Amino acid sequence: MRIYKAKNETDMSRKAANIISAQIILKPDSVLGLATGSSPVGTYRQLIDWYNKGDLDFSQITAVNLDEYQGLGPDNEQSYAWFMRENLFKHVNIDPTNCYIEDGLAEDPGAECLRYTELIRGLGGIDLQLLGIGPNAHIGFNEPGEALEKDTHLVKLKETTIRANARFFTNEDEVPKYAFTMGIKAIMQARCIVLVANGENKAEALQKCICGTISPEAPASFLQLHNNVFIVADEAALSLVEKTIPIEQSIIL
Ligand code: GLP
Repeated sequence: MRIYKAKNETDMSRKAANIISAQIILKPDSVLGLATGSSPVGTYRQLIDWYNKGDLDFSQITAVNLDEYQGLGPDNEQSYAWFMRENLFKHVNIDPTNCYIEDGLAEDPGAECLRYTELIRGLGGIDLQLLGIGPNAHIGFNEPGEALEKDTHLVKLKETTIRANARFFTNEDEVPKYAFTMGIKAIMQARCIVLVANGENKAEALQKCICGTISPEAPASFLQLHNNVFIVADEAALSLVEKTIPIEQSIIL
Protein backbone atom coordinates (compact mmCIF):
# COMPACT_ATOMS: atom_id res chain seq x y z
CA MET A 1 0.00 0.00 0.00
CA ARG A 2 1.42 3.40 -0.96
CA ILE A 3 -0.10 6.31 0.88
CA TYR A 4 0.23 9.83 -0.48
CA LYS A 5 -0.61 12.71 1.81
CA ALA A 6 -2.16 15.60 -0.09
CA LYS A 7 -2.23 19.18 1.11
CA ASN A 8 -5.88 19.65 0.23
CA GLU A 9 -8.62 18.43 -2.10
CA THR A 10 -7.06 20.01 -5.20
CA ASP A 11 -3.70 18.42 -4.47
CA MET A 12 -5.40 15.05 -3.85
CA SER A 13 -7.25 15.28 -7.16
CA ARG A 14 -4.09 16.19 -9.10
CA LYS A 15 -2.08 13.38 -7.56
CA ALA A 16 -4.80 10.81 -8.31
CA ALA A 17 -5.26 12.17 -11.84
CA ASN A 18 -1.52 11.86 -12.40
CA ILE A 19 -1.62 8.16 -11.57
CA ILE A 20 -4.64 7.60 -13.81
CA SER A 21 -3.14 9.56 -16.69
CA ALA A 22 0.05 7.50 -16.44
CA GLN A 23 -2.11 4.40 -16.80
CA ILE A 24 -3.86 5.84 -19.87
CA ILE A 25 -0.57 6.84 -21.49
CA LEU A 26 1.14 3.53 -20.74
CA LYS A 27 -1.86 1.46 -21.85
CA PRO A 28 -4.18 3.48 -24.11
CA ASP A 29 -6.75 0.66 -24.25
CA SER A 30 -7.00 0.32 -20.46
CA VAL A 31 -10.13 -0.87 -18.70
CA LEU A 32 -10.78 1.76 -16.04
CA GLY A 33 -13.04 0.97 -13.10
CA LEU A 34 -14.66 4.26 -12.16
CA ALA A 35 -16.35 5.63 -9.09
CA THR A 36 -18.95 8.25 -8.23
CA GLY A 37 -19.45 10.43 -5.16
CA SER A 38 -17.93 13.81 -4.40
CA SER A 39 -14.38 12.49 -3.79
CA PRO A 40 -13.41 11.73 -7.43
CA VAL A 41 -15.01 14.85 -8.98
CA GLY A 42 -11.81 16.92 -8.84
CA THR A 43 -9.84 14.03 -10.31
CA TYR A 44 -12.22 13.85 -13.26
CA ARG A 45 -11.97 17.63 -13.68
CA GLN A 46 -8.19 17.40 -13.85
CA LEU A 47 -8.31 14.56 -16.39
CA ILE A 48 -10.69 16.64 -18.55
CA ASP A 49 -8.28 19.56 -18.34
CA TRP A 50 -5.36 17.44 -19.51
CA TYR A 51 -7.54 15.97 -22.27
CA ASN A 52 -8.39 19.52 -23.44
CA LYS A 53 -4.70 20.34 -23.50
CA GLY A 54 -4.11 17.37 -25.78
CA ASP A 55 -2.24 15.30 -23.21
CA LEU A 56 -4.74 12.47 -22.89
CA ASP A 57 -6.65 10.32 -25.35
CA PHE A 58 -9.65 8.30 -24.16
CA SER A 59 -10.61 6.90 -27.58
CA GLN A 60 -9.54 3.35 -26.76
CA ILE A 61 -10.51 3.39 -23.07
CA THR A 62 -13.22 1.16 -21.64
CA ALA A 63 -14.99 2.30 -18.46
CA VAL A 64 -16.82 0.05 -16.02
CA ASN A 65 -18.53 1.74 -13.12
CA LEU A 66 -18.72 0.38 -9.63
CA ASP A 67 -22.34 0.82 -8.78
CA GLU A 68 -25.79 2.16 -9.55
CA TYR A 69 -28.93 2.83 -7.53
CA GLN A 70 -31.76 0.39 -8.16
CA GLY A 71 -34.79 2.14 -9.63
CA LEU A 72 -32.88 5.01 -11.26
CA GLY A 73 -32.38 5.04 -15.02
CA PRO A 74 -29.64 6.90 -16.89
CA ASP A 75 -31.96 9.88 -17.51
CA ASN A 76 -32.46 10.44 -13.80
CA GLU A 77 -30.16 13.19 -12.55
CA GLN A 78 -29.43 11.27 -9.35
CA SER A 79 -28.30 8.15 -11.17
CA TYR A 80 -24.65 7.30 -11.32
CA ALA A 81 -24.96 6.89 -15.11
CA TRP A 82 -25.96 10.57 -15.26
CA PHE A 83 -23.15 11.52 -12.87
CA MET A 84 -20.51 9.86 -15.04
CA ARG A 85 -21.81 11.48 -18.20
CA GLU A 86 -21.86 14.94 -16.61
CA ASN A 87 -18.59 14.69 -14.71
CA LEU A 88 -16.43 12.91 -17.26
CA PHE A 89 -17.72 11.09 -20.31
CA LYS A 90 -19.32 13.97 -22.22
CA HIS A 91 -16.17 16.07 -21.84
CA VAL A 92 -13.66 13.59 -23.32
CA ASN A 93 -13.40 11.44 -26.43
CA ILE A 94 -14.40 8.17 -24.77
CA ASP A 95 -16.68 6.01 -26.92
CA PRO A 96 -20.06 5.95 -25.09
CA THR A 97 -20.56 2.35 -26.23
CA ASN A 98 -17.47 1.46 -24.18
CA CYS A 99 -18.91 2.93 -20.97
CA TYR A 100 -20.61 0.35 -18.79
CA ILE A 101 -22.68 0.58 -15.62
CA GLU A 102 -25.26 -1.66 -13.99
CA ASP A 103 -28.81 -1.07 -15.26
CA GLY A 104 -30.70 0.44 -12.33
CA LEU A 105 -33.99 -0.33 -14.07
CA ALA A 106 -33.26 -4.00 -14.78
CA GLU A 107 -36.43 -6.05 -14.38
CA ASP A 108 -34.50 -9.12 -13.31
CA PRO A 109 -31.84 -7.96 -10.80
CA GLY A 110 -30.30 -11.43 -10.54
CA ALA A 111 -29.78 -11.62 -14.31
CA GLU A 112 -28.39 -8.08 -14.33
CA CYS A 113 -25.83 -8.99 -11.65
CA LEU A 114 -24.73 -12.03 -13.65
CA ARG A 115 -24.51 -9.97 -16.83
CA TYR A 116 -22.29 -7.37 -15.19
CA THR A 117 -20.01 -9.93 -13.54
CA GLU A 118 -19.60 -11.69 -16.92
CA LEU A 119 -19.03 -8.38 -18.67
CA ILE A 120 -16.09 -7.52 -16.41
CA ARG A 121 -14.69 -11.01 -16.82
CA GLY A 122 -15.08 -10.73 -20.59
CA LEU A 123 -13.14 -7.47 -20.60
CA GLY A 124 -10.24 -9.31 -18.96
CA GLY A 125 -10.75 -7.59 -15.62
CA ILE A 126 -9.91 -4.04 -14.61
CA ASP A 127 -6.53 -2.38 -15.18
CA LEU A 128 -7.06 0.47 -12.75
CA GLN A 129 -9.89 0.83 -10.27
CA LEU A 130 -10.63 4.26 -8.84
CA LEU A 131 -12.37 4.16 -5.45
CA GLY A 132 -13.87 6.54 -2.95
CA ILE A 133 -14.66 5.32 0.55
CA GLY A 134 -17.88 5.56 2.53
CA PRO A 135 -17.74 6.95 6.08
CA ASN A 136 -18.53 3.37 7.20
CA ALA A 137 -15.56 2.04 5.17
CA HIS A 138 -17.65 0.70 2.30
CA ILE A 139 -16.15 0.52 -1.17
CA GLY A 140 -18.48 0.69 -4.15
CA PHE A 141 -21.63 -0.24 -2.27
CA ASN A 142 -20.02 -3.21 -0.53
CA GLU A 143 -21.46 -2.45 2.87
CA PRO A 144 -20.04 -3.60 6.23
CA GLY A 145 -21.49 -6.90 7.40
CA GLU A 146 -20.74 -10.48 8.39
CA ALA A 147 -19.57 -11.45 4.92
CA LEU A 148 -18.70 -9.86 1.63
CA GLU A 149 -20.25 -10.84 -1.67
CA LYS A 150 -17.76 -11.80 -4.32
CA ASP A 151 -19.59 -10.82 -7.49
CA THR A 152 -21.91 -8.04 -8.64
CA HIS A 153 -24.95 -8.03 -6.38
CA LEU A 154 -27.93 -6.04 -5.20
CA VAL A 155 -27.37 -4.59 -1.77
CA LYS A 156 -29.68 -3.10 0.83
CA LEU A 157 -28.04 0.18 1.76
CA LYS A 158 -27.20 0.84 5.41
CA GLU A 159 -28.96 3.70 7.17
CA THR A 160 -25.57 5.42 7.57
CA THR A 161 -25.00 5.29 3.79
CA ILE A 162 -28.50 6.58 3.02
CA ARG A 163 -27.87 9.45 5.43
CA ALA A 164 -24.42 10.19 3.99
CA ASN A 165 -25.70 10.19 0.40
CA ALA A 166 -28.88 12.17 1.17
CA ARG A 167 -26.94 15.39 0.45
CA PHE A 168 -27.26 14.61 -3.27
CA PHE A 169 -31.09 14.33 -3.03
CA THR A 170 -33.74 16.81 -1.91
CA ASN A 171 -34.43 14.68 1.17
CA GLU A 172 -33.45 11.40 2.77
CA ASP A 173 -36.67 9.63 1.69
CA GLU A 174 -35.68 10.04 -1.94
CA VAL A 175 -32.47 8.04 -1.60
CA PRO A 176 -33.02 4.57 -3.08
CA LYS A 177 -32.83 1.81 -0.51
CA TYR A 178 -31.09 -0.68 -2.78
CA ALA A 179 -28.20 -0.49 -5.19
CA PHE A 180 -26.24 -2.71 -7.54
CA THR A 181 -22.55 -2.94 -6.84
CA MET A 182 -19.50 -4.63 -8.24
CA GLY A 183 -18.39 -7.30 -5.76
CA ILE A 184 -15.13 -7.44 -3.85
CA LYS A 185 -13.59 -9.93 -6.30
CA ALA A 186 -13.54 -7.65 -9.36
CA ILE A 187 -12.23 -4.81 -7.18
CA MET A 188 -9.46 -6.92 -5.63
CA GLN A 189 -8.53 -8.38 -9.00
CA ALA A 190 -8.00 -4.92 -10.47
CA ARG A 191 -4.33 -4.67 -11.38
CA CYS A 192 -4.04 -1.27 -9.74
CA ILE A 193 -6.31 0.50 -7.24
CA VAL A 194 -6.40 4.22 -6.50
CA LEU A 195 -8.49 5.30 -3.51
CA VAL A 196 -9.17 8.99 -2.93
CA ALA A 197 -10.43 10.41 0.36
CA ASN A 198 -10.63 13.88 1.81
CA GLY A 199 -12.12 15.50 4.87
CA GLU A 200 -12.40 14.66 8.53
CA ASN A 201 -15.52 12.53 8.05
CA LYS A 202 -13.35 9.94 6.26
CA ALA A 203 -10.71 9.73 9.02
CA GLU A 204 -12.25 6.75 10.82
CA ALA A 205 -12.90 4.87 7.58
CA LEU A 206 -9.31 5.42 6.41
CA GLN A 207 -7.96 4.24 9.74
CA LYS A 208 -9.95 1.00 9.35
CA CYS A 209 -8.84 0.72 5.72
CA ILE A 210 -5.13 1.23 6.36
CA CYS A 211 -4.47 0.04 9.91
CA GLY A 212 -7.57 -1.91 10.97
CA THR A 213 -8.25 -5.61 11.28
CA ILE A 214 -9.07 -7.11 7.90
CA SER A 215 -12.76 -7.79 8.27
CA PRO A 216 -16.02 -7.66 6.28
CA GLU A 217 -17.10 -5.19 8.97
CA ALA A 218 -14.76 -2.74 7.17
CA PRO A 219 -14.77 -3.74 3.48
CA ALA A 220 -11.98 -1.27 2.62
CA SER A 221 -9.64 -3.14 5.01
CA PHE A 222 -9.29 -5.86 2.33
CA LEU A 223 -7.23 -3.42 0.29
CA GLN A 224 -4.36 -4.19 2.70
CA LEU A 225 -4.06 -7.53 0.87
CA HIS A 226 -3.68 -5.98 -2.58
CA ASN A 227 -0.15 -5.45 -3.86
CA ASN A 228 -0.71 -2.32 -5.96
CA VAL A 229 -2.86 0.16 -4.06
CA PHE A 230 -2.42 3.92 -3.96
CA ILE A 231 -4.27 5.78 -1.22
CA VAL A 232 -4.35 9.48 -1.98
CA ALA A 233 -5.83 11.43 0.91
CA ASP A 234 -5.67 14.83 2.50
CA GLU A 235 -4.38 15.59 5.98
CA ALA A 236 -7.83 15.65 7.58
CA ALA A 237 -8.71 12.21 6.21
CA LEU A 238 -5.34 10.84 7.38
CA SER A 239 -5.54 12.45 10.83
CA LEU A 240 -6.36 9.22 12.71
CA VAL A 241 -3.94 7.08 10.67
CA GLU A 242 -1.18 9.55 11.52
CA LYS A 243 -1.69 8.93 15.23
CA THR A 244 -0.08 5.51 14.69
CA ILE A 245 1.82 5.97 11.41
CA PRO A 246 3.33 9.42 10.84
CA ILE A 247 3.45 10.22 7.13
CA GLU A 248 5.85 12.81 5.77
CA GLN A 249 4.63 13.04 2.15
CA SER A 250 4.19 9.41 1.27
CA ILE A 251 4.84 6.02 2.79
CA ILE A 252 4.85 2.42 1.61
CA LEU A 253 3.27 -0.06 4.01
C1 GLP B 1 -21.24 6.22 -2.43
C2 GLP B 1 -20.60 5.42 -3.55
C3 GLP B 1 -19.16 5.06 -3.23
C4 GLP B 1 -18.43 6.30 -2.75
C5 GLP B 1 -19.08 6.82 -1.50
C6 GLP B 1 -18.38 8.03 -0.91
O1 GLP B 1 -21.72 5.43 -1.42
N1 GLP B 1 -21.31 4.22 -3.82
O2 GLP B 1 -18.56 4.51 -4.38
O3 GLP B 1 -17.09 5.98 -2.51
O4 GLP B 1 -20.40 7.20 -1.86
O5 GLP B 1 -18.88 9.19 -1.48
P1 GLP B 1 -18.24 10.63 -1.32
O6 GLP B 1 -17.00 10.61 -2.12
O7 GLP B 1 -19.27 11.55 -1.86
O8 GLP B 1 -17.99 10.82 0.12
